[in-house]
Amino acid sequence: MKDRILVWDLPTRIFHWTLAASFAGAFLTAESERWRDVHVMLGFTALGLVAFRLCWGLIGTRYARFSEFVRGPAEVTRYLGSLLSRQPRHYVGHNPAGALAIVALLALAVLVCASGWLLYADVGGEVFEELHEGISFAMLAVVGVHVAGVVVSSVLHRENLVRAMIDGHKEGPREAGIAGSRALIGVTLAAAIAGFWVWSMAAGDATTGAQKTEHASVQRYDD
Ligand code: HEM
Repeated sequence: MKDRILVWDLPTRIFHWTLAASFAGAFLTAESERWRDVHVMLGFTALGLVAFRLCWGLIGTRYARFSEFVRGPAEVTRYLGSLLSRQPRHYVGHNPAGALAIVALLALAVLVCASGWLLYADVGGEVFEELHEGISFAMLAVVGVHVAGVVVSSVLHRENLVRAMIDGHKEGPREAGIAGSRALIGVTLAAAIAGFWVWSMAAGDATTGAQKTEHASVQRYDD
């Protein structure tokens, strides 16, 4: 007997869509001098989100935990084999192949944000610029694989995974659902992101204090 069950808690859903938006926004603003501060803020937002997700992977609800979805190569191979045999194994949370892309995305997000931060802090110069760009495009490729995997898995299992990542629900046996959506933590995460943006914009460039330093030097010059 299948019911509509809660699978993705609110923090995981907020994490997902704000990370996807940060990534898209950072790509669109990457080449523009004018949007440089926004690009940097998007990078810090993504870094903060990944830091949150790493903690949530340890203490979050059942399907958000790494122990629930990170699997070894044998299980990934078995899952991919089951797709070829046209009898795909179904997982309530992330399937082992999807989980592989998710781990890669989290790792690449850390690398792309860290290299961007070092670049912005004027460490490393051209080497870091190449590195930052190279990792970003590697991440774009994995995002492509991820989205393709979501589409294929949705078709094979006849379930709308995108809608599930929006409203948190899937069909499944009642006992497989999580008890609550951890709304308070989700709202706190959203408020922290909004707060960071309001604070950064109010401070000009609060992320590094670069603009403040610029003002200070202009003032010193005027004196
Ligand atoms: C339109 C674009 C996207 C769509 C439709 C989409 C959709 C989804 C869906 C449906 C899931 C759940 C998969 C499952 O049921 O196993 C998921 C998970 C995930 N996606 Fe995406 N995604 C998109 C873009 C992105 C981007 C750009 C990133 C990274 C920058 C990303 C990172 C992730 C991560 C890390 C997870 C795991 C969620 C968690 O457990 O915390 N996605 N995505």
